[in-house]
Amino acid sequence: MLSLHDKVVAITGASSGIGEATARLLAQRDAAVVLAARRGERIDAIAQDIRHEGGRAVACVVDVTKPEDLQRLVSTTIDQYGRIDVLVNNAGIAPLSRLADLDTDGWSAMIDVHLRGMLNGVAAALPVFRKQGSGHLVTIASTAGMVAAPAMAVYGATKNAVRAVHEGLRKESTDGVVRTTAISPGYVITDLADSMTDPHMKNEIRTHMNAIGIPPAAIARAVAFAIEQPHDVEIGEINVRPTIQG
Ligand SMILES: NC(=O)c1ccc[n+]([C@@H]2O[C@H](COP(=O)([O-])OP(=O)(O)OC[C@H]3O[C@@H](n4cnc5c(N)ncnc54)[C@H](OP(=O)(O)O)[C@@H]3O)[C@@H](O)[C@H]2O)c1
Repeated sequence: MLSLHDKVVAITGASSGIGEATARLLAQRDAAVVLAARRGERIDAIAQDIRHEGGRAVACVVDVTKPEDLQRLVSTTIDQYGRIDVLVNNAGIAPLSRLADLDTDGWSAMIDVHLRGMLNGVAAALPVFRKQGSGHLVTIASTAGMVAAPAMAVYGATKNAVRAVHEGLRKESTDGVVRTTAISPGYVITDLADSMTDPHMKNEIRTHMNAIGIPPAAIARAVAFAIEQPHDVEIGEINVRPTIQG
């Protein structure tokens, strides 16, 4: 039987949606989890809930745009559980807009959270993975990174960039120490629309999400599948969409 028993997993963006569902599922399956996000009270409450159900979980306040926060996440994980087997880069935002709207702040924010945030995770975890002799980087990208769609150009570009970094890291890691997995969800019912500034866009995406979206647990199961494989098996990319998504 494949197992998550004794895996130590740090998860960014664990205060809601896919990150929260991933923390809960991995803990149920016997992994020790460190939940990271900016909203400390939310990750504290989720970690406490996991512990009440018999799981192992702690919270760590992290803003992924700050390199030192990712360093602290990795060191907290090691202090708590002795090592870090997996870093799940999941934190994300989606201030979607058409390019003509020139929402340059929104463009920068997505670059900072998705691309720089992921690279901050790589910088913090990679030296530790190499020192340990093993480690696994999992990133939640998006199917929006594979096909262009109106209002999603910059969002998709950052997700595509993240997949490119993963593929580069995979090619540089053929000595067998580091595994990489990029998981690209389609529509998932989460709070992601809350980060949208344009009210029409927010309403449109929320309606679409609620109409066809799948639960965040569907993505959590894909994360678990990638992690539980034996170390000589690397799940490179997984796309998880609602069956009815075009
Ligand atoms: N929902 C979908 O349909 C969908 C589809 C494809 C891909 N995705 C991707 O899935 C990932 C998770 O999103 P979700 O759908 O679960 O949305 P969500 O419920 O809004 O969760 C986003 C998470 O990211 C965290 N976050 C945002 N900025 C952060 C920062 N600077 N530092 C640390 N944490 C930050 C938020 O926590 P705090 O606010 O507490 O920091 C929150 O926990 C994102 O990367 C998103 O792009 C989602």
